[in-house]
Amino acid sequence: MPQSSFDEEELLLQLKSAFQSYNQKFQATSNFAELSFQDDKTLFSKSYNDIYYSVDGASTEKDWVFLKGNDLYSRWPLDYSNNFNYFNIMEIGFGTGLNFLLTKMLWNKSHTSMLENKTKVKLNYIGIEGHPINSDDLFKIYNSSNDHQQYANEFHKTYQQLLPLEMPAVSNYYFEKENISLTLLWGKIEEISEIIFANKVDKLLTEKIDSWYLDGFSPKCNLEMWSDNVFKMLQQFTKIGGTAATYSVSQIVKAQLIKSGFEIKKVPGPNKKKEILLGKKLSFMK
Ligand SMILES: C[S@@+](CC[C@H](N)C(=O)[O-])C[C@H]1O[C@@H](n2cnc3c(N)ncnc32)[C@H](O)[C@@H]1O
Repeated sequence: MPQSSFDEEELLLQLKSAFQSYNQKFQATSNFAELSFQDDKTLFSKSYNDIYYSVDGASTEKDWVFLKGNDLYSRWPLDYSNNFNYFNIMEIGFGTGLNFLLTKMLWNKSHTSMLENKTKVKLNYIGIEGHPINSDDLFKIYNSSNDHQQYANEFHKTYQQLLPLEMPAVSNYYFEKENISLTLLWGKIEEISEIIFANKVDKLLTEKIDSWYLDGFSPKCNLEMWSDNVFKMLQQFTKIGGTAATYSVSQIVKAQLIKSGFEIKKVPGPNKKKEILLGKKLSFMK
């Protein structure tokens, strides 16, 4: 069955206009991330007192939680026999972009023959990030581990072009060869979600998202990432049968996902993480 997408051009136009009006009314900010390496290998946020990830083995870990967690290995390749087919992912907490790069690799592997034939599959990836990592730091991070080095040059230049001058802001890059559109919403999720709902941009995204990567810090130190508005987005934007994955198995996240119409399950996590949480959007509210 062909899957529908949102009107990307219209989404970008509406977001740009909404963010501009917001920035005219309020003082625009630009809070770049404050980072350090713990034990040389664990990427740490000084602002949130929590870790991004341990650089060694990060790809395997992220792949486990977000790509396998969202069942992408069996949902891809997309069926494109009849019509154009889209897959739409939204990530909250874009950070280093590692999840995006892993997703892009799997997308390419899964769709090689279709992409060569310029056929009809497209990936739309929307990332939200409130504390952009400056491009020098990102370069250091990618070069800090063999695991990451393959991405360093590939993404760094693109990333520099996408960084915002003020926030909230939106930027977009189209990867032509892969037919992937990367849209980054820069700003705090609490502001961005308010703007989206207040300006009726939400209408464009209703029931359009296939998968969510919920990659905020732990609710203990980052409660805004798990607020009512975030789950309102999950409830409204997710297609029936769409999925979500997160490291957090906290009570608040479980309860909010259920309230947003998801069926949830805990499954074993990667490395030292005992469990992670997966959700699937039901066709009815329990
Ligand atoms: C665990 S890290 C995510 C790591 C990221 N997915 C990666 O692969 O590098 C959590 C991210 O959430 C972002 N974040 C925290 N609070 C936020 C907020 N209120 N709004 C938007 N982003 C936020 C942080 O800046 C950080 O990049």
